[in-house]
Amino acid sequence: MKTLAIDGGAPVRSNKPSLVEADIFEQAEMDALVRVASQKKLRRAEAALEYEKSIAAYFGVKHAIAVSNGTTALHVALAAFGIGPGDEVIVAPYTFIASDTCVLEQNAVPIFADVDPRYLTLDPADVARKITKHTKAIIPVHILGTPVDMDPIMELARQHNLWVLEDCAQAPGASYKGKRVGTIGHVGTFSTISGKITSTGEGGFVMTNDGALFEKMWGYHDFARKRSLGAASKFHWGLPCTNYRITNMQAAIGLEQMQKIDRLIAKRDENAKYLDSRLRDLPGINLMPKPDWGERVYYYYAIRIDRQALGSDMLNFAVALAAEGVYDLGYLGTTRWIIPQHLQPVFVNKSGYGGTRCPFECPWYEGHVEYGPGLCPEAERACDEVFWLSSVNPLLEQQDLDDIATAVEKVATAFVAKQRAGIPIRYATDDQRARIEFMERARAEHSL
Ligand SMILES: Cc1ncc(COP(=O)(O)O)c(C=O)c1O
Repeated sequence: MKTLAIDGGAPVRSNKPSLVEADIFEQAEMDALVRVASQKKLRRAEAALEYEKSIAAYFGVKHAIAVSNGTTALHVALAAFGIGPGDEVIVAPYTFIASDTCVLEQNAVPIFADVDPRYLTLDPADVARKITKHTKAIIPVHILGTPVDMDPIMELARQHNLWVLEDCAQAPGASYKGKRVGTIGHVGTFSTISGKITSTGEGGFVMTNDGALFEKMWGYHDFARKRSLGAASKFHWGLPCTNYRITNMQAAIGLEQMQKIDRLIAKRDENAKYLDSRLRDLPGINLMPKPDWGERVYYYYAIRIDRQALGSDMLNFAVALAAEGVYDLGYLGTTRWIIPQHLQPVFVNKSGYGGTRCPFECPWYEGHVEYGPGLCPEAERACDEVFWLSSVNPLLEQQDLDDIATAVEKVATAFVAKQRAGIPIRYATDDQRARIEFMERARAEHSL
């Protein structure tokens, strides 16, 4: 067995730049960008309308609005639903923070429902348990490109008269029972930040089949203007309003990305399937299962580690992989290292704007909420076991994929052998532990 790099052996990969998370920016994107720049039309203009048409056509939906990012897309949708103080919105604990803090922007209260342990998507049975008389909406997140089981969620929404907002930031092109995600709930939102399946640097879009919601979302993203009146409605601000517009430059790039979205998805799929084939039979590693209710796409590639078989937690595993040259420990402080959202300090400490505890404790809110460990045990377990191994960016080369697979094989095999020989594995430094330790602290301090 080869000596691990962390034990002084030769790394699998050295003297090579870190694995790619770059934008796919080809000649077509360059030409489109130059075109709008040479027209001297940098702010939202015709390219945005074309982009929105191409989004609507691809997804088979009536209306799309390109906005400044995936976070503002979520805000626009909740504002259009009329979510406000005193309301509860059921959210996912295994996601990026934006899926949950968008609720705080409306001064409403996020209520976490647990995830399905197999697919890490919102568990409809737990959603049902979390519905109260204050509930107004549900935000299922198609995490990692895996579709949520939408039928039971839509049925709950119908029974309780709730809005459904699909967060599809990681899943454009995924489908549920033949329908593209984003077109099943009342609104679907997407992100096109660098690294996502289509990219405009920063950016996002919303979509709906509901004409009334479309008009409201339009207004909310552009200073409460009425779309039909255009600039004529400039001086009639009857609602709280904001500016979440996209630029013509981003839209021009986005339009080109939409022309090639199927190719981008297919290449990611091919990369992921290759990793599947190499990692399938490794000891201590489990592949992420796919639900049979739909077709997933690949944003990031994750694996589930068997802590007992490896004799180690995920952090030691990450540190050993980093020494092999295929993992960036900078991810420990980022979204690549998923932390359960309900254990984030903003929720555990009920931190509101202006140093208040609003909306968690606020005269408008007649419910009661506490956040802490034990609230969503499956999400908590997933955060200890599901390892976001690598991007499957189309720019990855065969050598990159081989390096990743070889390093995982080397580390997993060595860990299992050490575990069997009773050799303790302690590679992570105190400093590395400190970067994710607030989760441990929350567990210790706030037992529900
Ligand atoms: C699931 C999810 N929702 C929302 C967002 C927010 O999108 P953005 O970064 O474009 O604001 C992201 C990613 O960034 C995400 O992964």
